[in-house]
Formats: sequence, C-alpha cells, structure tokens
Amino acid sequence: MTHYCGINRMKEGTDFEKKHTPFIECKDKVKADDYFEVKISTGIPHPMEDDHFIHWVELYMGDLYLARVDFTQFMKPEVKLMVKAPSKEHEKFTLRALMRCNLHGVWEYEKEILLE
Ligand SMILES: [Fe+2]
Repeated sequence: MTHYCGINRMKEGTDFEKKHTPFIECKDKVKADDYFEVKISTGIPHPMEDDHFIHWVELYMGDLYLARVDFTQFMKPEVKLMVKAPSKEHEKFTLRALMRCNLHGVWEYEKEILLE
C-alpha cells in the first residue's frame, strides 16, 4: 500500500489515491500579472469525521508559498483561491498543491501553466 510518511503522489490511479490527491483546476494559460481562479479538491470525496479528515491544503508556485487553508470536520475540503500570475519574464510556471489527511499523510499534485 501507500507510504504514510514523506510526500505521496498518485501512482496507480486508485480510489484511495484519488481521495487524497489535491487536484488543481484552473486555466491552462493565463495573462502575466493577472489574477486567476484556482480550485483545489480531491477527485473522490474524502471523509470529514472526528477521527479521519483532511486537515489542511497548501498552494505553492514552484517552491514559493502562496496560501494555506485549515479545515474542520464541518467543512468540505475544497477551496477556490485567486492567484496572481507571475510577470512576463517567464514562459510558464508550476502550481503545486499539498493536502494532509490526519491518517494518510501529505499528498502532492502539480500543474504547469503557460503565461501569455
Ligand atoms: Fe484519509
């Protein structure tokens, strides 16, 4: 089964993996310096119970920390964030989401975005 330490990534496309992977949905191409919407959610709903829940989600641009949202069991672990695109000196950049389940560790997902 999956390792519960370190950072996990989707490997086999199992329901267990989909339940823990913080999928990023946003445009594939954005304008430099513009704000754009980024949605982060699991592919299959994860339980939000007292003893098993999604604790938090974090968003990075490469290694640059952007935001963190902490959840309680009264929340659906799904967020929409407005992110500022980098300036035009780059051609593309990577968004990286981390999500932590209290039982099943930290999971990572990356999406590359083009700049226009
Ligand atoms: Fe879990």
